[in-house]
Amino acid sequence: MAARRPVRLPVLAGVVVLVLGLETSCDETAAAVVEDGRRVLSDVVSTQVDIHRRWGGVVPELASRNHIVQVMPVVHEALTRADKTLDDIDLLAVTSGPGLIGALLVGLQVAKGLSLATGKPFVGANHLEGHLLAIRLLEDAPAPPFLGLVVSGGHTSLYEVRDYGNYRLVGRTRDDAAGEAYDKTARILGLPYPGGQPIDELAQKGNPEAIRFPRALPGDNLDVSFSGLKTSVLHHVQKHGVPEGQALHDLCASFQEAVADVLSKKLVAAAKKLGHTQLVLCGGVAANSRLRALCKQRAEERGLRMFLPPVRLCTDNGAMIAVAGYEAWRRGLRGDFRLAADPAWRME
Ligand code: KG4
Ligand code: ZN
Repeated sequence: MAARRPVRLPVLAGVVVLVLGLETSCDETAAAVVEDGRRVLSDVVSTQVDIHRRWGGVVPELASRNHIVQVMPVVHEALTRADKTLDDIDLLAVTSGPGLIGALLVGLQVAKGLSLATGKPFVGANHLEGHLLAIRLLEDAPAPPFLGLVVSGGHTSLYEVRDYGNYRLVGRTRDDAAGEAYDKTARILGLPYPGGQPIDELAQKGNPEAIRFPRALPGDNLDVSFSGLKTSVLHHVQKHGVPEGQALHDLCASFQEAVADVLSKKLVAAAKKLGHTQLVLCGGVAANSRLRALCKQRAEERGLRMFLPPVRLCTDNGAMIAVAGYEAWRRGLRGDFRLAADPAWRME
């Protein structure tokens, strides 16, 4: 039997660690090469939105099948753009949860296969930790502790990042995630899936005060709720019909204002309550122009520092998984071939 190649242990002082990050948890097939968990050498995202759009949302089986088709070309492209080969890579990091089980399995099996073929170690990374730690790729990244609000299609969760690997969930949505509210509202308005970007664009020419949609701020805890807002949009449309022209711009701006108002208020309230001065917004909805502006404004008014990842690092990508994997590795986590995908992996 051929001798197993020795596993090179990365994370040695002064040694550059190259991580290949692989993300297939939902409808983006993504891979990236990141140096030392800080510098992105390449970041390739192949989106499936055109495939899922005609169904009005992500169809899990279609997602898995398309990941299978896309994953190796995406990995190859990420290595090529970084001017590296698999031989140069020290660690493979792959999203192993949370997400769609069939979609996660594609990335995980590829990571295991590459690990087996090359002798390189691999580690499972948490998708939400990836979103939270994407901010490390900024030049002036905040050092923990900080408060991180993950706003995506599947999650709206507020975390206290006490240290890398030490997270406490301090608030969450009680029903719909913010991105889900965007996507459902877009559907009511006959706009394409995913709804965040089209609503954001239409809102630019709208009056945010045209319709006073409800703001659900349950109690003085740090939870939020968006199902009432979505129902309120539905009632408005049932009463007045699907708006067109300026009325559509106004509805989108009013809806967007309600989402941004609730989230930014909760974020600064949490900072005050828990004594944090550094705030991070992340996840797909963090790409939203109004949410970014209002969070920044409200944070600055209170003397807090608001950190916003660039838009390409807000939506799903492989670079954030490389960072989360790098951190998990530094904490001593190791992937072995029994590692299972965990669709409901809770980080805290
Ligand atoms: O983080 P992400 O790429 O995937 C998940 O992990 O869910 O987030 C996708 C979500 C979708 O619901 C999409 O509508 C929303 O992010 N989104 C936006 C914007 N761009 C994407 N929501 C509001 N405004 C945007 N500009
Ligand atoms: Zn995500």
